[in-house]
Amino acid sequence: MSQGKYDFDSRIGRTGTGCEKWDDLKINFGREDLMPFWVADMDFRSAPEITEALRERAGFGVFGYPTEQTEKYRTAVANWERRRHGWDVSSDDVGLMPGVVTGISVALCELTAPGDGVVVQPPVYPPFFREIRHNGRRVVENPLRETDRGYVMDLEHLRSVLTPDVKAILLCGPHNPVARVWKHEELRDFGRVCAGRDIVIICDEIHQDIIYSDAKHIPLSLACPEPEVRVVTLVAPSKTFNIAGLRASAWIARDAEIHRRLRSAFRRFHLSGINMFGLVALEAAYNRGEPWLDALMEYLEKNRDMTEQFLASRLPGVKLKHPEGTYVFWLDFRDYGLTRKELTDALTNRARVAMTDGAPFGQGGEGFARLNIGCPRSQLEEGLERLADTFGKL
Ligand SMILES: Cc1ncc(COP(=O)(O)O)c(C=O)c1O
Repeated sequence: MSQGKYDFDSRIGRTGTGCEKWDDLKINFGREDLMPFWVADMDFRSAPEITEALRERAGFGVFGYPTEQTEKYRTAVANWERRRHGWDVSSDDVGLMPGVVTGISVALCELTAPGDGVVVQPPVYPPFFREIRHNGRRVVENPLRETDRGYVMDLEHLRSVLTPDVKAILLCGPHNPVARVWKHEELRDFGRVCAGRDIVIICDEIHQDIIYSDAKHIPLSLACPEPEVRVVTLVAPSKTFNIAGLRASAWIARDAEIHRRLRSAFRRFHLSGINMFGLVALEAAYNRGEPWLDALMEYLEKNRDMTEQFLASRLPGVKLKHPEGTYVFWLDFRDYGLTRKELTDALTNRARVAMTDGAPFGQGGEGFARLNIGCPRSQLEEGLERLADTFGKL
């Protein structure tokens, strides 16, 4: 079924289009004959409003330097935050950048010093660890706590690791890979632990728009508006509108000192601009993409429900805590008692699905694999059938 005027059901072969998810199977999994459920982008065409704007811009045929007057684009970001998430930010609080991971790296370089501790909450998006280490900072772990009700932040443990040499925390909300959408009280309690310390929270909210109807995304800065909680928030239309390849993202900092420092750091690295097509797509997405996003969320929610029902009825050995947001789901294969190598082998060489290995997500990642449900339902069903065929026999 398609959602009104948008088609999410047609299967799109992306092989040969220069995309990582389909074209890099061999280098990542050792074989090409896999159904791809790994990299976090979706096998859907983006909003027609975006494609149309890009087509028009491409038709113009001149691709010189984009304007440095970015007010229009920063306003689109601020309006989006206000409209979709009730967060009243001004375009002056917003800066543009070519990627959220870029933003993490620049923020770490500018707001912490070599050797400083930076907290992450594993299992978490692996580049968090990489960016901290590549920039000569130290990873400090505050693992999420797995409870019957889902994963939660361990604030008592967080307090114990916040020694004076820890200068930043990378918060992921919604959290990739456990698909939690942090509640207002959880964020407030987290903010209270951080308040008044010499710590900046680098808050990755890239998945902010992929929220199911039983959850609500609250920007950290909205939950913790007090100036004692120092935050830089990183957002993007990339996951939301499936335009990650266009490298359009934004950072938001209301704290004047943090804002001034980041603005100057992005300039110093020559990273304060977005390419021409990224700008066009960002503007179209945030100003005209809402109907498509609403239709997408209806579709994804059915994919989520179907995945949960399928696992419960056909593959009860694979556990999944109820996903509240994101299209990347954290499948728990621990009951099978397989080693990491055996699990990878079963997924890749028997089920012939490409799923993301859980181990690189850090503590609590072994025995898990991440499934991307951002694809036509028939494709997802086929992938789940493959899992059932393989794991039903183990
Ligand atoms: C939590 C999180 N942050 C950042 C990114 C990537 O951001 P970008 O491509 O803008 O660097 C991803 C992509 O999966 C992600 O899940």
